[in-house]
Amino acid sequence: MTRDEARARDAADPLRGLRDRFALPDGVIYLDGNSLGALPKTTPARLTDVVTEQWGRDLIAGWNAHGWIGAAVRAGGAIAPLIGAQADEVLVADSTSVNLFKLLAAACMARPERGTILSEPENFPTDLYMAQGVAGMLAGRRVKTVAFDDLVAAIDDDVAVVLLTHVHYKSGHKRDIAAITAAAHARGALVLWDLSHSAGAVAVDLNGCDVDLAVGCGYKYLNGGPGAPAFLYVARGLQETLRSPLSGWMGHAAPFDFHDDYAPAPGIARFQCGTPPILGIAALEEGVAQFDGVDLAALFAKGQALCDLYVALVEERCTGFVLASPRDGAHRGSHVSFAHPHAYAICQALIARRVVGDFRAPDVLRMGFAPLYTGFEDVWCAVDTLAAVMRERAWNDPAYRFRAAVT
Ligand SMILES: Cc1ncc(COP(=O)(O)O)c(C=O)c1O
Repeated sequence: MTRDEARARDAADPLRGLRDRFALPDGVIYLDGNSLGALPKTTPARLTDVVTEQWGRDLIAGWNAHGWIGAAVRAGGAIAPLIGAQADEVLVADSTSVNLFKLLAAACMARPERGTILSEPENFPTDLYMAQGVAGMLAGRRVKTVAFDDLVAAIDDDVAVVLLTHVHYKSGHKRDIAAITAAAHARGALVLWDLSHSAGAVAVDLNGCDVDLAVGCGYKYLNGGPGAPAFLYVARGLQETLRSPLSGWMGHAAPFDFHDDYAPAPGIARFQCGTPPILGIAALEEGVAQFDGVDLAALFAKGQALCDLYVALVEERCTGFVLASPRDGAHRGSHVSFAHPHAYAICQALIARRVVGDFRAPDVLRMGFAPLYTGFEDVWCAVDTLAAVMRERAWNDPAYRFRAAVT
């Protein structure tokens, strides 16, 4: 595809106008929306309103007057259509790590006769770390990791919960939620899916796949801003039987009765712990609102097409890169990784030329294609810049020898 053809494809794209909903800096090609989503144009005004008009003017009355007290449940309800859930099955709360802890522990407690949390090696680190924390805390529990291809066969009668990430953070591999969930259920195990790289990027049908539990990030494709609160999902049929191990007052049935003893709230609200972060939730609501009225099937198909174009152009124009993601879009999320021995330095050289992707150790150059605001010409220009960086050996700069704290 030539640059003119890429531009023509953008011009013919009915989703192209969505890009105008975002305040992207001029001249930057942003291919890191899978790490931190772009800023929606409406977010600054919304935050200003919540800060100055709501907090500044109404002070504590805001909890009732502005619906702050119900914000976590309300924001969860807005995320629900993006992941195939009912509005009362999703809650915005805490970080993804903390939500993993809450749901893993709740799942283990609901299967007291089973000792294993089953996952795959090289799952996102926090997923494994939180599982290790839960297993270390509950007597007789362990974390077992099994290579993905052998995972279904390893679901035995001792598995309490299968913990997997739907779209792998590094490779972009997309797992089959329906098949793995069915296999887990056939052996009496629960499933917990991490949707951090899926929500807002690929189709997810939690209800249709009979999923028990899920978590995901608010700051990636959902555009909630740095450190945005995360979400969790608990299937309606499980909500009354699961107990959060973090039995904070905001998950109590009557927090303002100030009882000494914990009694979980009915429904999804029991998975709240402390006071909800109102500013963070307001920003996340704006991020999620960018999907309003959008044809999701068309949006996700566009994400796949952007990835396909990137793979084709890199392989056509750049040597030394090995595709580390599935070639077939049906098995991939909305990001693509290529392995290269100088991936970190190449990534820094690209950023210096205003093409922003990221590096994942040990050798992966990862590019995310958030379909709400990425165009085909962006992909073309990004690869053109990559080809120039390689041709000119721009990556071979002593400044790129030492890694920054965040890569
Ligand atoms: C799959 C996955 N899970 C969880 C997280 C992060 O969790 P937290 O929001 O707790 O930092 C990430 C961050 O990149 C991720 O990719």
